[in-house]
Amino acid sequence: MSYSALVHLVCSRCHKTATPEVIQQTCPDCDAPYLCEYDLERARAAWEQHPLNERPPTLWRYHELLPLQSEENRVSLYEPLTGVWPLRGYAKKVGLKHLYVKDEGILPTGSFKARGASVGLSRARELGVRAFAMPTNGNAGAAWAAYAARAKIPALIILPSDAPRTPRKEMLAYGADVFVVDGTIGDAGRLTQALCKAYGVYDVSTLREPYRLEGKKTMGLEIAEQFPDGLPDAIVYPTGGGAGVIGIHRALLQLQAMGRIQGPLPKMVIVQAQGCAPLVRAFEQGKRVSESIEHPVTSAFGMRVPKALGDFMILEAVRETGGTAIGVSERQIADARRQLAEEDGFFVCPEGAAAFAGVETLRASGWLKQKDRVLVVNTGSGLKYTDDAPFDVPHASHIGDFARFIKRVTNDRA
Ligand SMILES: Cc1ncc(COP(=O)(O)O)c(C=O)c1O
Ligand SMILES: [Zn+2]
Repeated sequence: MSYSALVHLVCSRCHKTATPEVIQQTCPDCDAPYLCEYDLERARAAWEQHPLNERPPTLWRYHELLPLQSEENRVSLYEPLTGVWPLRGYAKKVGLKHLYVKDEGILPTGSFKARGASVGLSRARELGVRAFAMPTNGNAGAAWAAYAARAKIPALIILPSDAPRTPRKEMLAYGADVFVVDGTIGDAGRLTQALCKAYGVYDVSTLREPYRLEGKKTMGLEIAEQFPDGLPDAIVYPTGGGAGVIGIHRALLQLQAMGRIQGPLPKMVIVQAQGCAPLVRAFEQGKRVSESIEHPVTSAFGMRVPKALGDFMILEAVRETGGTAIGVSERQIADARRQLAEEDGFFVCPEGAAAFAGVETLRASGWLKQKDRVLVVNTGSGLKYTDDAPFDVPHASHIGDFARFIKRVTNDRA
């Protein structure tokens, strides 16, 4: 039995197939992303013969549904399965009985981007890629720089000049070539494409090569294993480029085709910041594709994507599953971030906070019911965004300055 059950690539728009045996970027006919197609019957038989729960607890346990042909090409920093657990304090506050989080902050480099980097770079190395370039809002660049250091492959990473500072320090530490541009990730992307075209460098921008998405897909494969008694009613995801949502949806479709999950799929819910909500707008207007936002503004940088290349697939995942799309304000994002920390001891990234704020809004509107089982993906650790965290620390010089704490202590005793 081979390591991967990958059969071919198929264009997500014109459906023409292509060989995965050579380096591919987007479809040459329509510039749409390629998707990986697998022999699902072969994967099903392999999983029956070697059950998943007897395999090592990392995303590589799903290797038959990943594109890597040979295990020895794997580039890994050890990617644990990320836990799913209940958030009781916040659930009570928003009026839900069953609210769970899948916390991606525990992955190497602190975000779900490690999944795409591990799988994408492994496959790139297998195909003989000698250098790559990418635009990023921060976390993807940090992840790819780390895995590139491990694989000894030169990386050029371009980010908007106002992107968060922690990830760029990480990228420099890993030895990547890092640059900032004025503008958005879209502008960084155009510069990346120009360089890649001029020098034949591999472009690993979101959905411009077929394999990053496959790494993201492992979130969906894990979720299916983590809810053995029935999938959640809704999966809520903070969405920018959309690979996370497309990946989870594809995972669930593949598992359904393999007979591993039954019943309707969870409703896919995408959350964006009101200052950059092209997908929410397209969803509300009933459109198949989104229109680019000219001046996107949000502190949740991972979602500051003016137009996603795979917008039509994101909107399809939302509509096909009966999900929805919702925009949240910067105020709601900051409040959710503080409340989760206070209520549940859980420090999320602004993108994760946006997803929770989306849950609160959808519960208040009645779209989510009290009994619904809701899973939110916290896409990264709060520790990656401390520069602008909404917490001030006052000075102390006398015990009288500790009034709030003293009041809490004495109230407890009373
Ligand atoms: C922490 C975080 N959350 C969410 C996103 C958006 O994810 P996607 O591009 O898969 O929609 C990003 C992307 O940069 C991110 O860094
Ligand atoms: Zn095509």
